[in-house]
Amino acid sequence: MLVNKYYGVPRDYVPDDLVEVEPHYGRGYLRSEVYEQYKKLQDEANELGYYFTICSAYREYAMQEALYNGYLQEDAGGVASVDTYSARPGHSEHHTGLCMDLYETTYGMDDFGLSEASKWVNENCYKYGFIIRYTKEKEHITGYQAEPWQLRYVGSSDIAKDIVDRGITFDEYYACFVEE
Ligand code: DAL
Repeated sequence: MLVNKYYGVPRDYVPDDLVEVEPHYGRGYLRSEVYEQYKKLQDEANELGYYFTICSAYREYAMQEALYNGYLQEDAGGVASVDTYSARPGHSEHHTGLCMDLYETTYGMDDFGLSEASKWVNENCYKYGFIIRYTKEKEHITGYQAEPWQLRYVGSSDIAKDIVDRGITFDEYYACFVEE
């Protein structure tokens, strides 16, 4: 499903197959298939010596609303600034249960992109059906600053690889290749 700045989900949408993330993999809830694939990704990373866990997964409407309003209170740049890094309630991919933010042991989340783990995730997450959702090169399309820590599950490794090989965003992929 497509969720971005322009396409939202109903306020009361809740995926019907959410499962709780075990502490070894972080915290929160994800759709079951997403979680199964994520575990494989993290297991391979751990075997290679990269360490990260999920710090944010499914977020319901009220949670996103609280986050967004919290940023508004803190950010002197106001709405224009907050809209470059936080989705409005009903417009966050976190609401779908299909994505997660990663927290690296040394660099945390905000500096995840500086870690070796980030480089590895960037090159290997497609194998488990994930893409990096918000990249620096595509800020003009996604409308969000780059978030090397946010992964989005797209359904299969073939689809994830296709998106990466084409060098496009999920928004573009959905518009061109997903039949509704
Ligand atoms: N930080 C991303 C854009 C979100 O709020 O869903």
